[in-house]
Amino acid sequence: MEFDIEQTDELLSTTRAVRRRLDFDKQVPDELLLRCIELAEQAPTGAGVSSRRWMIVKDPEIKSQLAELYRDAGGRRTIEGLQQRRSAGGAQARMAESSAHLATNLEKAPAIVLVTIWGVHDGSGRPGLFDSVIQAAWSFCLALRARGLGSAWTTMHLEKAKEIADLLGIPDGVTQIVLLPVAWTIGTDFKPAPRRKASEIIWFDQWGDTQENPGQSNSLIAAGPGISVEIDIAAPPEQVWEFVSDINIPARFSDEFQGAEWVDADGPHEGASFIGRNERKEAGRVWQTTSYVVVCDPPRIFAWHVNDRDQPSARWRFELEPIPGGTRLSQRLVIGPSLSATGRAMEANPEQARQILTNRREQHRGNMILNLEGIKHLAESGA
Ligand SMILES: Cc1cc2nc3c(=O)[nH]c(=O)nc-3n(C[C@H](O)[C@H](O)[C@H](O)COP(=O)(O)O)c2cc1C
Repeated sequence: MEFDIEQTDELLSTTRAVRRRLDFDKQVPDELLLRCIELAEQAPTGAGVSSRRWMIVKDPEIKSQLAELYRDAGGRRTIEGLQQRRSAGGAQARMAESSAHLATNLEKAPAIVLVTIWGVHDGSGRPGLFDSVIQAAWSFCLALRARGLGSAWTTMHLEKAKEIADLLGIPDGVTQIVLLPVAWTIGTDFKPAPRRKASEIIWFDQWGDTQENPGQSNSLIAAGPGISVEIDIAAPPEQVWEFVSDINIPARFSDEFQGAEWVDADGPHEGASFIGRNERKEAGRVWQTTSYVVVCDPPRIFAWHVNDRDQPSARWRFELEPIPGGTRLSQRLVIGPSLSATGRAMEANPEQARQILTNRREQHRGNMILNLEGIKHLAESGA
């Protein structure tokens, strides 16, 4: 059998959290739920043991008690915090709106499916519990979507897992994993969510080693080798941005970068350029580069190209992502496409090209880690 790849990819990329477009007025036949669960049960399970148990809740009284526990667990916070989240606008506000809608109306879902598994995680690090159930629950969501039904992955209720166990008669020794409201969707067109490019979050062979164009194996530089380093900082993005956008901060931590001066500008903005001074003492090398700011989007992205705006020898990029309690800061470097000293050395010594690249990556990685750790310290100490 040949799969229709376009349809399969559409299913995989558009199975979204559906909340506002759940049709509360149309019943969902049990046969459909059973079929979707049968399909979901094809997911891998530790030691081949059948430990997943699926609860379908349809009784209106039990559904409303379950919905009340969902609200007690956090749903009410979501509803009450809506006004404030609305004012933030954008995707966050839309998500808050959608979460509050579900929290308000959970009992109206024609069916609520609670996915559970026999076992209690003992923190031993041994597999076989969450990793034997989440894949099946997601397959269930995909099977629903393929049939015009929808759901939203929710775990808020877990704060009230004990009360829910009492309500539904779930014995000790069973862990609740996810609660899925199920309904027909209003319309079936859903869009892929904005997500990072795969090349930004895939590390090849070593943690943090990236390739912008994997498959370009005719030349190591054409593959766009790079490094990504990340750190979580307990400070808001606006605060972290102050350090990230200061081109002299890395000189405080790096053993290579010595400092930089703006050219015809007194601060970061798109189109501005700066001259950076570098030194590698062990190689007796001192050099300067001119860099061009290509993105300055406070407090999210600060990026520049080295040597040439359009054909740079290196591309640097900081990204600040808000996470609960602070900021995830990433610093990324892509080497090329035009040749720097490293690229030229690789070309001149093809036998050693891979080792030259590895060594240079290690130098960069070390300095990038020092830089992010330094910024974390400054931001968290309020310096
Ligand atoms: C671990 C986890 C827990 C979640 N818990 C809830 C929840 O309790 N309530 C809720 O409304 N959505 C919950 N969500 C759904 C996310 O908020 C949802 O993924 C988000 O709205 C983005 O939608 P999308 O996945 O379709 O892009 C959860 C998602 C995950 C992965």
